Amino acid sequence: MVPELEKATVHMKNPEHVKRVISALRKEGTDKLQVISDFDMTLSRFGFNGRRCPTSHNILDNSRVISEEGRKKLKDLLHYYYPIEIDPNRTMEEKCPLMVEWWTKAHDLLLQQKILKSDIAKIVRDSEVMLRDGVNAFFDQLHQHDIPLFIFSAGVGDVLEEVLRQAEVLHPNVTVVSNYMDFDDQGVLRQFKAPLIHTYNKNNRVLGKTEQFQQLSSRTNIVLLGDSMGDLSMADGVTDAENVLTVGFLNDKVDERRGKYRDAYDIVLEKDETLDVVNGILCYVL
Ligand code: C5P
Ligand code: MG
Repeated sequence: MVPELEKATVHMKNPEHVKRVISALRKEGTDKLQVISDFDMTLSRFGFNGRRCPTSHNILDNSRVISEEGRKKLKDLLHYYYPIEIDPNRTMEEKCPLMVEWWTKAHDLLLQQKILKSDIAKIVRDSEVMLRDGVNAFFDQLHQHDIPLFIFSAGVGDVLEEVLRQAEVLHPNVTVVSNYMDFDDQGVLRQFKAPLIHTYNKNNRVLGKTEQFQQLSSRTNIVLLGDSMGDLSMADGVTDAENVLTVGFLNDKVDERRGKYRDAYDIVLEKDETLDVVNGILCYVL
């Protein structure tokens, strides 16, 4: 059915369930289908040649527009909070206030740096960001078949949109909900727009009764892509969801987190830097 599911990186707790959902998605056609995806470390690569690739926040953190002192402080925050973010032994309730702390401190540091709107394109161009292999086929397939792609990201919206624009995949079927920057009349960053989205509040409460929420709730067959346990609530807004297929990229601390990921995601992709499996499923379904 989908030869890519035979890849060594693929793990499924219940392969029969996966087959049933994929068959239903194909049978029900394109009108009811949408893809809901995380951005950082899901559409973007986690690593390349043994080195970590940057998240949309890191693209800013590591850029030349940030002072050396600011860069060091942002790195210290990452080293303190990232292990908490991915710790399989802490609950989401425990992690939530700590994530708010991380995002708030990082955004405050970024605000001190007088970042210009007009610098974003160059910051992205000069960065080491990489999208996963197969990303063009992924975006193009969805665009061709008019399937909405809803990107729900706790990263920085302006930065991730620019990454997609430079990759020439920011097609009209793509909607992004993320943390967007607010610039003053001179084009200088003055604040981040509310609400703050972090790893563990990606749900319908943070979306509120927005246009994006309306869009999200109207298509009841869903392919959901994420890399964090927090990404699983991204489709909460679709209350009458019918067929949902969740695909989780397990990038880091694989041995410690394998059990939880296999329990939570229908398909787990371990250390797989490609979108091959997702593209194979879409090719079969569309
Ligand atoms: O797009 P996504 O929701 O994955 O973006 C959030 C990711 O950005 C988190 O997984 C987190 O590790 C990372 N992050 C970061 N720097 C921050 C805050 C979050 O790299 N200041
Ligand atoms: Mg992510």
